[in-house]
Formats: sequence, C-alpha cells, structure tokens
Amino acid sequence: MAGAAAAVTRRAATLLLSSRFRTPASRVASLIPIVGASNRRFLCASSVSARTAEPAEAASQLGETVKDFRKRLRIDEVKGGPDQGLDWVGKDLTVRGWVRTCRVQSSVTFIEVNDGSCLSNMQCVMTSDAEGYDQIESGAVTTGASILIVGTVVPSQGAKQKIELKVTRLVVIGRSDTTTYPIQKKRATREFLRSIAHLRPRTNTFSAVTRVRNALAYATHKFFQENGFVWVSSPIITASDCEGAGEQFYVTTLIQNDTEGNNFNVSKIPTTKDGKIDWSQDFFGKPAFLTVSGQLNGETYACALSDIYTFGPTFRAENSNTSRHLAEFWMIEPELAFADLNDDMACATAYLQYVVKYVLENCKEDMEFFNTWIEKGIINRLNDVVEKSFVQLSYTDAIDLLVKSKKKFEFPVKWGLDLQSEHERYITEQVFGGSPVIIRDYPKEIKAFYMRQNDDEKTVAAMDLLVPRIGELIGGSQREERLDYLEARLEELNLNKESYWWYLDLRRFGSVPHAGFGLGFERLVQFATGIENIRDAIPFPRTPGSADF
Ligand code: 4AD
Ligand code: MG
Repeated sequence: MAGAAAAVTRRAATLLLSSRFRTPASRVASLIPIVGASNRRFLCASSVSARTAEPAEAASQLGETVKDFRKRLRIDEVKGGPDQGLDWVGKDLTVRGWVRTCRVQSSVTFIEVNDGSCLSNMQCVMTSDAEGYDQIESGAVTTGASILIVGTVVPSQGAKQKIELKVTRLVVIGRSDTTTYPIQKKRATREFLRSIAHLRPRTNTFSAVTRVRNALAYATHKFFQENGFVWVSSPIITASDCEGAGEQFYVTTLIQNDTEGNNFNVSKIPTTKDGKIDWSQDFFGKPAFLTVSGQLNGETYACALSDIYTFGPTFRAENSNTSRHLAEFWMIEPELAFADLNDDMACATAYLQYVVKYVLENCKEDMEFFNTWIEKGIINRLNDVVEKSFVQLSYTDAIDLLVKSKKKFEFPVKWGLDLQSEHERYITEQVFGGSPVIIRDYPKEIKAFYMRQNDDEKTVAAMDLLVPRIGELIGGSQREERLDYLEARLEELNLNKESYWWYLDLRRFGSVPHAGFGLGFERLVQFATGIENIRDAIPFPRTPGSADF
C-alpha cells in the first residue's frame, strides 16, 4: 500500500486499536459490528481486495459446487423464512428426518417429522392413495423411526403452521420399536434424559440447546475475528499448572494392561529409591496433565501477535457436584497485549453483549422456546444484557455491601476470604437486579500467581464477571509483566521457578502490559438458554463418577 493511503490506514488502525474497547458498555453492542468491519478494511486489506475482485459468477459457481455435497433439503430452509414457508406452496420436495408423532385417522394420517435443523416439525398429511401407505398400515411409521417423504407444499389448515406437506411417497429408512424407544410424547425429566444422552438430542430442549451452543461458538469466532484477534490452539496435555489449584488429571502410560489384556498390577509402577513414582520413566519423562487453562501458552502468542484467543477443551479434577461445574468443559481465553485491566473488562463486556445479541437475532425460534418452557422472561433479561452497561465495583466494596446486607450466608464474609457462589448470586440477583456485575481488585492471597500486583500491595488487578443464577461466568486479570515482581511471587508461593522459565522469558524479552480472561463456555450456554444444570449445556457431560457415552 503506497503513500497517503497507507498513512490514513495506519492512522485509522491506531485509532481503532486505542479506542477499540473503550466505548461505554451501553453503546458497545451496536458499535462492535461497525468496528469489526473497519478493522477488516484497514487491517486485512489484502484479503478484502482478493474477495471483492472475485467475479460474482465465479462466486455463484463455487456456491453450487459446495452445495453439491448435500442435496438434501432441510426443514429450516423451507419453514425458516419470513413467511414461514408460504413461498414454497405448490413446490414438490423431499424431507428426511425422524418421526415425532404419527396420528392415523380414518381418512388422513398426520406425520410430524423433525430433522433437527429447527424446532419446527414438517407436518405431513397422507391419504391412502399415496405410495408407501402400506407402511402406515403395517405400523412401521412410529415415533423415532427415520423416514423419507416426498410431497407437495400446500397451505396448512391448522393454526400451528402456515404450510404442510401433502405426501405422494413415503419410505421408512429405519424402524423404531415403540415398546422400547425411550422418548415418549410426555415430558421426561432432565435426569432421565441424561441417562439416555445418545438420544436426548432428539428432544426439543436438547436440539434447541445444541443449536444455540453452536450459534454461540460461531459468534465467538466472529467477534474475535472481526476485532483482529488470532485463534491459537493451546495444548491439551501440559506439564504446568496454570491456576496452581492442584486440580489436574494425570496423563500417564505408567499404568497399562499387559499384552494379554490382564489387569494392571500396581507393583509394576516404577519407583525411585525413596519409594516415589519414577516419572522419568513415564511417556513425557515427567508428570503431565490435562490442561486446566490455556492461558500461559496464550500469553506467549499474545506477546508476539498482540491479540489472540484460545477456544478449546479444559479439564478440572475438582470434586464439585454442582449445577455449574464439569470435569471437562470448554474455555474461551482471549489475551490482549498492550492492555490493562480496564481494556480487559471492556473486552469481556463487548464480547458478552455481542454473542448474546447474536443469538437473540439468529436463534429466534429456539429463544422463544426457552422463554416459554425453560426460563420465563429470558428474552427480556438478555435484551437488558445487550443494552445496559454492566455494574463494576471493587472487591472491597463488594465485601462492604455483603456485610451491610445483614443477610445470613452459609459461608463467612470477611475481607481476604474468597466470594462464594451464594455471595456472588446475592450481589447480581438481589443488589443489582439481575444485571451482570464485574468485581475487580481481589486480595492477592486468593488469586493465582500471575496476576499483576496493585500499588496497594494487598490486591491484584483481577476481575470476575458475575451473572444471575450462575455466579462467575468470566475470570480474568492483568498479568504481572514485571520480572522481579513475578519471580518474587513465585518464590513466596513456593512454586518451582525453573519450570516457569519460558513464561518468565516473556518478561525478559520485550515484556509488555497484557491482560486476558477465561469464559466457561457451558456457563455461557446456561446463561443464554436458561438451562438450570450445566450437564445439560454440553452434549456428553463428564462429572465425578460419570463418564458414560
Ligand atoms: O476463573 P478460572 O479458573 O480462570 C482461569 O482459568 C484463567 N486462566 C482464565 C484467564 O484469565 N485466561 O476459569 C475461567 C472460567 C470461570 O469463570 C468459569 O466460567 C469456567 O472457566 N470454569 C468452569 N466451567 C465449568 N466447570 C468448571 N469446573 C469450571 N471451572 C471454571
Ligand atoms: Mg475464577
């Protein structure tokens, strides 16, 4: 890029970088898409020009080829439009899916088919002259069976839908025995559905949660990509303990069945002279774990690419049987270089508002479903999240507020003690009427070693974002970028300085102020859908004592 244009671009980019997340929270949601667009224009000019140079014709051909892999039409493509399928009236089409119900009446049969593309079923109306009617007569079209239906779209007589399919041909693809198929029309409990996690996606609740979870993941990438962040894969197997809480799962090959498949004998674990496990003989030559956070690795890339994010599985071996803890969950961890705690909080606010707005706009049918069946009023609550600024207060003020509340809590409230879920919920639900609240500047003793010490020497530049019903949704901080402070802190906490050599190198070579946060993705799914238990926010939950499916 030459001369004046480049200068303008650079100026605009600098402006964007410095003002990116400084916008008042209440205005951020509406501004973010514009900021994103500008970022693309100025920061990724080459890719944009390549795209605009593409001839429309070639683009449409590409679309056709890409579509070739799937000739199947989805119900959502027919019914998901603004006129709920009326524009398809008179057209012949083929639907494939699973039977939700089949009602045989004297002159017509109604088959409700769902293919998972949306909440709506396709109501198919069949008379005895249609090809394949013998399948109805033989009782093969039952709840849970998979079928193919060809028919003509006609306006529906019923009030529940605008269109239906007048069947010309029906083929049963896979039968389903009604006497043993565990999903019946009457509502099943969530606990029961967890015991059939392989079939629960065929229910309205779980298919809707799955689609919203998908939309949140897509919006997550969209938000960070539009704002110039680079996605980095942090390792799943690691030798370092990021949070220092000792809640890691070991990854080892020291325990193995013999080649005949006989059970492992404990005496075969190699030990050192003093009776400890000899990790030098393990696969990695030292103890290794499943990661509890990708942050430390994320920091290394932020200190080179400026703004990055990770989005991947995370594991914690804490024995917490609560509605907000999983042993395996997904975490999103952005890391911003040349940024402080205020930038971090602004980024967390903008991100949360963006993804919530995205699902409100793009998952309307599913959100209406949650509003009616899962949490009454969730749409209004989420609209408030998008439109109103989040409350911010210091840990010290939060403690004051809890003490003055005179409320009886199970856990003690005292400066220096960590906030428990009951305290967090009281603050968001009672004191601030359901608004997300960011609490900052926690005592250093209750936070991880890497957080930046504040000038008062008692607190660190940490922040937790709390939401109603769930409590902590996001935890983050500005990182200690001063080598001497960080080394002193590692020593204070008796952590092995040598094992953090590479992390300390970031402070030795071109250290910069930087900050980031971690968001538990399943807690976000809970927040956006109203689903009470985190085990219902992930397809196959892993919790203490349970790793089925
Ligand atoms: O607060 P945490 O422990 O923070 C970190 O791991 C930092 N390294 C993040 C960072 O600054 N990059 O975890 C972050 C979030 C929590 O706020 C919570 O939403 C979620 O991860 N989380 C869990 N979600 C489900 N099950 C669990 N057992 C979780 N533990 C934490
Ligand atoms: Mg935390």
